[in-house]
Amino acid sequence: MAASDRTLMLQKIEEFKKEVHKAVVGYDDIIDGLLIALVSGGHVLLEGVPGIAKTLLAKSFAQALSLKFSRVQFTPDLVPSDITGTSVFDQKRGEFRFKEGPVFTNVLLADEINRSPPKVQSALLECMQEKYVTADGKSYPLPDPFFVIATQNPIEMEGVYPLPEAQVDRFMFKLVMKYPSREEEKIMLSSYVSTDIPAVNPVLDVKQLQTIREEVRKITMESKVFDYILDIVEATRKDERVMLGASPRASLQMALASRVRALIKGRNYVSPSDVKSVAPNILRHRIILKPEAELDGLKTDILISELLEKVPVPKLV
Ligand SMILES: Nc1ncnc2c1ncn2[C@@H]1O[C@H](COP(=O)(O)OP(=O)(O)OP(=O)(O)O)[C@@H](O)[C@H]1O
Ligand SMILES: [Mg+2]
Repeated sequence: MAASDRTLMLQKIEEFKKEVHKAVVGYDDIIDGLLIALVSGGHVLLEGVPGIAKTLLAKSFAQALSLKFSRVQFTPDLVPSDITGTSVFDQKRGEFRFKEGPVFTNVLLADEINRSPPKVQSALLECMQEKYVTADGKSYPLPDPFFVIATQNPIEMEGVYPLPEAQVDRFMFKLVMKYPSREEEKIMLSSYVSTDIPAVNPVLDVKQLQTIREEVRKITMESKVFDYILDIVEATRKDERVMLGASPRASLQMALASRVRALIKGRNYVSPSDVKSVAPNILRHRIILKPEAELDGLKTDILISELLEKVPVPKLV
């Protein structure tokens, strides 16, 4: 790709982010995270307290993409086929026909995923990994791209089903939305004169996404940076306060996400700062602390930042 095309591509990405910002004040890092995961072919778990704009952000992100979008509100009465689809009897043909569920889309917002029972969550998590639905002994491939944004509330409530620990590994990132800064919240107050949310228009299409993905493959990564990733992952496995460390899938995704971040930041090589930036989002949902460490008040995010401080950062020449 010529340098001028590269500049255009970066401009397009900026335009896309601006479009999302029409509806959402702040959360630049979260929008970057969603974009990195989308380009990488990963999925995102988006966590935040009620009313922090999880749904709004996920919806606006999807609307700024010229892709097919569906939203499923996870509720206690959902069954797996409400997600994947069902066989229905076709009167005319006198046979059963598969009716695709909402999972047959490009961007799926699985809103409040922990309000549905584990069976329903598993159905979605399986689709995320396998990229197809099996019904009546037949496989139905999901569209490409297929990108899941699942939202969840961190507060333990009655009737909430935490995601199965072994399956959260299927999410590339867990992004945590913090409260906005006072200035951001003030901008939000002053920009809303009614409850109408500004319209977000599609600005990025499949072809452009494909081009970005092709460019990602050209990003170079030095052996030292691979070692840096492996050192970080190993540190999570070796730490005595940790019961379960990061998986090989995590290291693979850390490398991929670092490449995409390098591209978005306008570089053609991965720097250790890319790795450091994506690492917490990759690691926080995969590390399980020992109960005694948790009792001592240790939080996964604190452990991760400690490890990132400790692991030596390679110098690129
Ligand atoms: N940063 C923000 N920018 C713009 N609007 C915001 C922001 N934060 C909150 N809002 C406003 O608050 C409303 C509530 O947000 P939303 O419904 O997306 O929250 P949520 O995190 O999904 O909450 P819940 O957990 O209850 O589903 C939004 O529709 C929007 O009007
Ligand atoms: Mg919501």
